[in-house]
Amino acid sequence: MSRPVFHLTIFALSLASQVTTLSAAPQFEKEIWPILSKKCVDCHRATQVVDGRKKEPKAGLRLDGAWAIMKGSENGPVLKPKDSAGSYLYEVTTLPKDDDMFMPPKGDPLTDPEKALLKAWIDAGADFGGWEGNTEGKPADPNAKEAARVRDHETFYTALAQGVTPAKDDVIAKAKTSGAQIFLLKPDAPLLRADFLTGVSSCNDAKLEILLPLKDQIAQLDLGRTAVTDAGMKTLGQLPRLASLDLRQTKITDAGLQHLASASKLRTLNLYGTEVSDAGLKHLYNLKGLKNVFLWQTKATEAGAKQLAAAIPGLSVSVK
Ligand code: HEC
Repeated sequence: MSRPVFHLTIFALSLASQVTTLSAAPQFEKEIWPILSKKCVDCHRATQVVDGRKKEPKAGLRLDGAWAIMKGSENGPVLKPKDSAGSYLYEVTTLPKDDDMFMPPKGDPLTDPEKALLKAWIDAGADFGGWEGNTEGKPADPNAKEAARVRDHETFYTALAQGVTPAKDDVIAKAKTSGAQIFLLKPDAPLLRADFLTGVSSCNDAKLEILLPLKDQIAQLDLGRTAVTDAGMKTLGQLPRLASLDLRQTKITDAGLQHLASASKLRTLNLYGTEVSDAGLKHLYNLKGLKNVFLWQTKATEAGAKQLAAAIPGLSVSVK
């Protein structure tokens, strides 16, 4: 009977010690930043103009922003999370006062409790806890833009799938036997992607009608290099969730684009190698959700592409 109690005690003990280590990690903004801002930042901050003279951060080291503290000085990093002994930022505060590198070289040195806090903060992982400080000069994160684009894409398709009933298997099967390839955009989601890549030349305007029983589900459609013409675009105008349409190297002209004016969910439109010109692009001006339009090797001019991009905020147009 004593064993469970014993285990329980160990458990309680380890829990208690975990809680103390957790609460022992100093919080940057509350405990570390006040030290740095009072004793270091005067000499280690973003370049300032004082009395008409530029004052650069000493040793190129800025301690006024989280990213800058992590970046370090002109000689490299000064902070190694979880390793106070390997962190110059801490070491310089502990040197003998007559050492050339003792910090701060002027003003009050760090008190023993302040040094202990700095050491504990570094050894606990140097977590800034959401504090960013001065982000001026911080290099843009190349991944941030891509991540935002992916998020935006996901949000869009999730919203597009709202309230859509999945297509019945026999309806999908029928479209397939008629020559279309049909895929689920995502497993367990009702939206579909369709193409005719197994027989592009046999896909003509009449053939597009096999898509109509799936009109509520089709979100992406690849008609590249097929035999569709302007007349077929009328059928596409009946797909309320069409978000991505590839018409590259087809006979589509300006007249065909007018039928797409009702495709209010359209985000991506590929017109590469078609006869489309600036006049036809005007039919797209009200498609405010457009993100990408491809116009290489068309009759569209750079001026026409610019006008289209100006009509739709956030649209990127590739031309020539
Ligand atoms: C009065 C100005 C001043 C203050 C205040 C000051 N520093 Fe410095 N700091 C300097 C100068 C000048 C250097 C360059 C010294 C050298 O290279 O000889 C330097 C260099 C450093 C370096 C070395 C950078 C490298 O890689 O070469 C570190 C780390 C540093 N300081 C940290 C601090 C910390 C932490 C504080 C606050 C406790 C602080 N400094 C306060 C002027 C200052």
